[in-house]
Amino acid sequence: MAVDVAVVASWNVDLIAHIPQPLTRGQTRMAHAFERLPGGKGSNAAIAAARQGAPVGLIARIGGDDFGQMGLDLWSREGIDSQHVVRGEGETNGTALILVYEDGDNSIAVYPGAGAGLSAAQVQAAAGMLAQARLVMASCEVPLAATLTAFEIARAHGVMTLLNPAPAMPLPDQLWPLIDVLTPNEGELMSLAQAPDIESAAHQLLDRGVGAVLVTLGAHGCALFRPDSAPLRVAGHAMRVVDTIGAGDTFTGTLAAALARQTPWPEALRWANAAAALSTQAHGAVTAMPTAAQVQAWLEQASTEHLGGCHDNR
Ligand code: RIB
Repeated sequence: MAVDVAVVASWNVDLIAHIPQPLTRGQTRMAHAFERLPGGKGSNAAIAAARQGAPVGLIARIGGDDFGQMGLDLWSREGIDSQHVVRGEGETNGTALILVYEDGDNSIAVYPGAGAGLSAAQVQAAAGMLAQARLVMASCEVPLAATLTAFEIARAHGVMTLLNPAPAMPLPDQLWPLIDVLTPNEGELMSLAQAPDIESAAHQLLDRGVGAVLVTLGAHGCALFRPDSAPLRVAGHAMRVVDTIGAGDTFTGTLAAALARQTPWPEALRWANAAAALSTQAHGAVTAMPTAAQVQAWLEQASTEHLGGCHDNR
């Protein structure tokens, strides 16, 4: 199957406990709710893109256990091509231990399990899918050697690349010029660059060869920085947040789908911002991820209520 969006993906099962506030070291508390739900930044973004109507394919490594099977079943339901997913028989699947607090914020510890074995050779084996895609994306939850190989193949074939640098970590020098679009949140941006503010931090990364730095700012929307243009900012949406797990992945996946169909930047940002806002309206990463029709309906309603505009400073 030909895909528009190819994802070098992590797949985790999220084990989520709800407690009022963050624990202090050594503290035990009774949780008032527990959920076992789909997660992993790569899989989450892939599902967000698929729900926007993009044909999506995964390159991933999953466990031979029940959690691995849960991923295969999920991608089948979402219409995502998993022919390049490798199952590590006898290996534990990626797992995320998540605490969600009463204000909707969270803390996450990720054990990558079988996903840590996603190799450059496995990516090479999927070179055909990468070469014919319109956009290749990854996050920092997969081994950097796998991302580097995927982006080299993409660049050789003129395919756009998108990296969500989460969780934040130092990136190899060779990777920077292979990134067409980087989508850090504010904390990730500030850990990747040493600068007093987001604009100068973004320009440091542009100077390393990144094509565009799109900073997500949560309720404050997002800001796009490119080498030869003024910043483009999209205001956020005022939401009563249920749970922010996967909001960044929803943003990234929705953006990927929009860029893959050559949507102009202002519209792509407006769309991704709205999808991320909608994704906060239910528990878990993928539960409230919207379809394209849901984003459109909500944006139409929002525009009549004058919510969340697009500020183009050019
Ligand atoms: O971005 C949210 C995701 O981070 C969760 O689904 C969890 O699996 C971790 O990967």
